[in-house]
Amino acid sequence: MYPPWQFCSNYSGLFSLLSSLFPSFRVLIPDVQKLVDQSMPKERSSHRQVSGGYVYTEYHPMEEIYQWMTQIQKNNSELVTQHFLGKTFENRTMYYLQISQPSNKPKKIIWMDCGIHAREWISPAFCQWFVKEILQNYKTDPKIRRFLQHLDLYVLPVLNIDGYIYSWEKERLWRKSRSPYENGTCYGVDLNRNFNSSWGSVGVSFNCSSDLFCGSGPESEPETRAVAQFIKSKKSDILCYLTIHSYGQLILTPYGSTTKPPSNNEELMQVAKEAAAALTGKYGTSYKVGSTALILYSNSGSSRDWAHTIGIPLSFTFELRDTGTYGFVLPADQIQPTCEETMLAVTTIIDYVDKKHFPNGAVVLTSTTALICHNLLYCLNLLTSLCC
Ligand code: ARG
Ligand code: ZN
Repeated sequence: MYPPWQFCSNYSGLFSLLSSLFPSFRVLIPDVQKLVDQSMPKERSSHRQVSGGYVYTEYHPMEEIYQWMTQIQKNNSELVTQHFLGKTFENRTMYYLQISQPSNKPKKIIWMDCGIHAREWISPAFCQWFVKEILQNYKTDPKIRRFLQHLDLYVLPVLNIDGYIYSWEKERLWRKSRSPYENGTCYGVDLNRNFNSSWGSVGVSFNCSSDLFCGSGPESEPETRAVAQFIKSKKSDILCYLTIHSYGQLILTPYGSTTKPPSNNEELMQVAKEAAAALTGKYGTSYKVGSTALILYSNSGSSRDWAHTIGIPLSFTFELRDTGTYGFVLPADQIQPTCEETMLAVTTIIDYVDKKHFPNGAVVLTSTTALICHNLLYCLNLLTSLCC
């Protein structure tokens, strides 16, 4: 418990005090926080350097993405932390970023991974853009501000690090990981066929020279195991699983391994449609929405299907721009528009999750709480004048 004078200087302190005194206290006027922020001293609400000069409109090699992760957590240490997730086959470290606002209430998690397929460079570019946008706008964007009160964002910028590096250094259109098979005669597993859901049943190959090689068994690859183990350990708190790919302009729902719809298909479709509509609203880019097996192709062992089958109800694959003009080699001048429109889709989904699970999260000031506020403020003023 803080001494009362720490709450004299601003209203947000007062709200914290009220919430701790009366656990059911909720300020229900969305604009109150705005007033609170306006009342803050200038230097506290001024824009911090969140990006440190990083150029988000270019593709970056892995080394720069590692440096970006270090910088972003340094520059935003009150909100962002970097965590070990696992090791790749070639022994590189996988880190995820956690964006969490301090809270005394239990929170839920949104997971997003990028770069499971090496050549889909727009995907890691989006994960970085997403983190930057959240950090730049969480104080002013009411949607972000609201969901960050209840939800922590876990972002894995590059899942398939070995493959991503290989696509930069050796073969631009490389898709898989880089583990050797058949005595080193062929390399790489399609990590999005390696998860433990109907593994090996459809849309895969058991030939390690194929782009769709599903590995020697479910979770045979260290990258898959790292992600799967972590998600399993947090699964009761993860409300939404997002995995970002290119290309095709699609929002894909479960399942890929069967055309049988999941039990919450209606909800999945409704949320995906709402997200696609928000996306289209920006630049008119058209997106298709539907189950993977029905609108793309059948596949098994995907992370999206797996996340849904272990009990994460909202699980989506994004296939970003374009529809084949440039395909995987999307020009850098499309990074910005692609990320801007995708941002709208992703925040629509997160907003939906937030409002569904935290319906009373909005801040409402009733006459009773207003009175309590008023009286408390009076007492605090009195206290200050007595002590100071
Ligand atoms: N990212 C997709 C995958 O996971 C590739 C889709 C591209 N192909 C297409 N026809 N749109 O396999
Ligand atoms: Zn892909």
